[in-house]
Amino acid sequence: MPCFHAAAPLLAATACSPVPTIGLSARAHWQLDSFFGYQFLNGCNPYVIRQCKTRPQPGRHSRDGPAIPPSMHLSAGEMERGTIFLADYEILEGVPANSVNGRPQHLAAPLCLLYRNQQGELLPIAIQLKQTPGPHNPVFLPSDSEADWLLAKIWVRNSDFQCHQLVSHYLKTHMLGEAYCVATLRHLPGAHRYTRFVEGLLQFFYPSDRAVQQDSELQSWITDLYHHAFLGLQQTGIPQSFQNRAELVKFVTMVIFSCSAQHAAVNFSQLDFDLWMPNCPASLRQPPSSKGSRTSRTSCITSLKSTPPALCCSPWPCCPSPPATISRWGFTGPPSQRRPSESDLEFQADLRNLGSEIDDRNAGLELPYRYLRPDLIENSVSI
Ligand SMILES: [Fe+2]
Repeated sequence: MPCFHAAAPLLAATACSPVPTIGLSARAHWQLDSFFGYQFLNGCNPYVIRQCKTRPQPGRHSRDGPAIPPSMHLSAGEMERGTIFLADYEILEGVPANSVNGRPQHLAAPLCLLYRNQQGELLPIAIQLKQTPGPHNPVFLPSDSEADWLLAKIWVRNSDFQCHQLVSHYLKTHMLGEAYCVATLRHLPGAHRYTRFVEGLLQFFYPSDRAVQQDSELQSWITDLYHHAFLGLQQTGIPQSFQNRAELVKFVTMVIFSCSAQHAAVNFSQLDFDLWMPNCPASLRQPPSSKGSRTSRTSCITSLKSTPPALCCSPWPCCPSPPATISRWGFTGPPSQRRPSESDLEFQADLRNLGSEIDDRNAGLELPYRYLRPDLIENSVSI
């Protein structure tokens, strides 16, 4: 677990307000390797980092990550122990950058290698800003000049911002939710039994696999989603039809999770980690640097310099403090129409217990992770 004690005065000032505490810690520690690494699992976008099982070598395919410098003396045992990780932003390769106020912006497609030390800190150990190795695509190391290393990390944070907002947040929660909603309006009448799945009664309405197979509205719904939202691509894993109840339960659970818990994790964390712009620059106006260019603190600032997009992408408008917008994981509706069943009450009790477990775990952490506490999760992607 990284140690951020240097922020003690700031933390003390906000002890009763956990959300700003993390934001202030981000502002105080954004330049630290430990905070940079911490965000790969605890920040807004915990979906990029992967455990690295093979040792990257010079000249090998870019997906192996940047070569580990010989001076690091990492043994093969480190790979076996699972202490090496890779964040690969290959998806950004070849994406054209925008132009803002007539000024071209720039994108990288970096690979960032990380090491988990014995203290549990996840530390960056090598960064390559473009995918293809070559003389103009150096591997930046912590031993480089402070400015070179800082700017390399800033590029990774910028790339992470692009992937977070466009893929993890917008595509995988908001756009998915919209696709489900459109297909529902097209194929499921308001009184369709499916709409009551969230009450935990699916098995009551579908007593057998055959009942699932014979529900033509349900089958039209998933077929529409498969062909028009997921473009008929088998590799998405989206089914073309439901053959049994287990498939239906799995799919609907995924929908509910994507539009509630997953969205909460990638949405409400923005205020904490993205508000301090240098920690999460939305746009950079200098091209990725090479070592020969002698990065200085001034050139770091020039890359970051307060451009309109950097300021306009402030997450304030889209992520108010969760409790202000929460529609809790309860079951609403007029009592005359809806009474909680036994399974509803059990489900709510499970969620309360989960919340208590999360609170207990957070009590031992310097920075809490609250985004997945059930009572702080919205039941929609409406924000
Ligand atoms: Fe959102």
